[in-house]
Amino acid sequence: MGSENKPLQINFWVFYFLLFLHMVSFCIVSTLYYKRVSFPVSSSHETFKDSSPPSPRLLPPPKSNAEAAGAGFHGASKVTGMSLEKQGVYLIHNMSDTELLRKVSTPIPQIFVPKVAFLFLTPGPLPLAQLWELFFLGHEGRYSIYIHPNPSYKDTWPPNSVFYNRRIPSKSVSWGETSMIDAERRLLASALLDISNQRFVLLSDSCIPVFDFITIYDYLINSTQSFVASQDDPRETGRGRYSPNMMPHITVEQWRKGSQWFEVHRDLAVLIVSDRKYYNIFREHCREPCLCEEHYLPTLVNILHPEMNTNRTVTWVDWSQGGPHPTTYGRRNVTSELKRIRKHADCTHNGKEHATCFLFARKFLPDTIEPLI
Ligand SMILES: *[C@@H]1O[C@H](CO)[C@@H](O)[C@H](O)[C@H]1NC(C)=O
Ligand SMILES: *[C@@H]1O[C@H](CO)[C@@H](O)[C@H](O)[C@H]1NC(C)=O
Ligand SMILES: *[C@@H]1O[C@H](CO)[C@@H](O)[C@H](O)[C@H]1NC(C)=O
Ligand SMILES: *[C@@H]1O[C@H](CO)[C@@H](O)[C@H](O)[C@H]1NC(C)=O
Repeated sequence: MGSENKPLQINFWVFYFLLFLHMVSFCIVSTLYYKRVSFPVSSSHETFKDSSPPSPRLLPPPKSNAEAAGAGFHGASKVTGMSLEKQGVYLIHNMSDTELLRKVSTPIPQIFVPKVAFLFLTPGPLPLAQLWELFFLGHEGRYSIYIHPNPSYKDTWPPNSVFYNRRIPSKSVSWGETSMIDAERRLLASALLDISNQRFVLLSDSCIPVFDFITIYDYLINSTQSFVASQDDPRETGRGRYSPNMMPHITVEQWRKGSQWFEVHRDLAVLIVSDRKYYNIFREHCREPCLCEEHYLPTLVNILHPEMNTNRTVTWVDWSQGGPHPTTYGRRNVTSELKRIRKHADCTHNGKEHATCFLFARKFLPDTIEPLI
């Protein structure tokens, strides 16, 4: 009997072995699934719904991802998938389900120094580059730079420049058109690839910093809100550019105007690059004399998350002389002008009165660089 039973017993064990294999692979697959899926859920989705101050909301994904993105950002290597073992994630562990789920869903403490991303939107050269070089000197690791020049522009940054290799793939830009928004979103998206970028400032080739790096960095990093100029302007140059065809998605009451030169937090930057709905409406209905760059972001932020915004810009510009273009400053006026800009003292920062309204200023001619330095 015993010998006749053998094949049957073997089949029996083979069956259990296969069942065991099956269960093991199921466990591995579900572990992987949780590890991959739970991070974005906890770190970015909830981000938008929650309106508490930003620092706890700006939850970085696991360290490994931050490092991978960081490596890509520094240009040392491309952003590539890292093996789980290299990331310190082992499939065989002794955590209970509860522990495992808690581990992947709890916020990971901030493990990097937050950076401010400086996004330069320029036809090509940066005439005030020398000033910016001095501004950034000694603050490596707290900033990152992205340049969007005209695609035909040939740059010649020397390898020791902060601007070296910081150019992103660009397309040509036309004033007032959606190509301007495209360029802004392209800059934001490129900078979002680096998880340590937490603040994003759009700058032009005629912009200067009004304070030293630390002052600007602290002001932005400490702020709980973004700085996107957004006003309801009843005039022809405001509401007058609204098109009723935007109804019902955008009403004239929601329509806003503001300077293009924004500063946004990471949460808002993610919302801006992921918007399709309002972008498409603007592409369709914001035509001359409507200027996309003066209305798209101010209106978008006002509709989606007005509470995230201070409604003012941190980039100073002088419209007091009237006309379609702001005053341009040359070397004779620069010193007195700079004093005037710094002294603006009627702003709030995190709900408190603050002596500083503006961190950047435009438009400054290349010949101002010497007195500025
Ligand atoms: C099991 O968990 C304990 C801590 O809870 C840890 O010290 C130990 O190294 C773990 N063992 C394995 C094999 O991971
Ligand atoms: C602002 O942030 C810096 C760190 O970047 C910190 O040292 C400083 O105390 C903060 N200031 C305020 C007023 O919160
Ligand atoms: C900005 O404007 C929006 C809508 O007009 C408003 O809800 C919000 O409170 C304003 N923010 C500040 C800081 O005034
Ligand atoms: C610049 O300075 C000159 C001489 O000091 C003055 O005449 C001119 O009005 C100033 N321009 C501006 C825009 O302030």
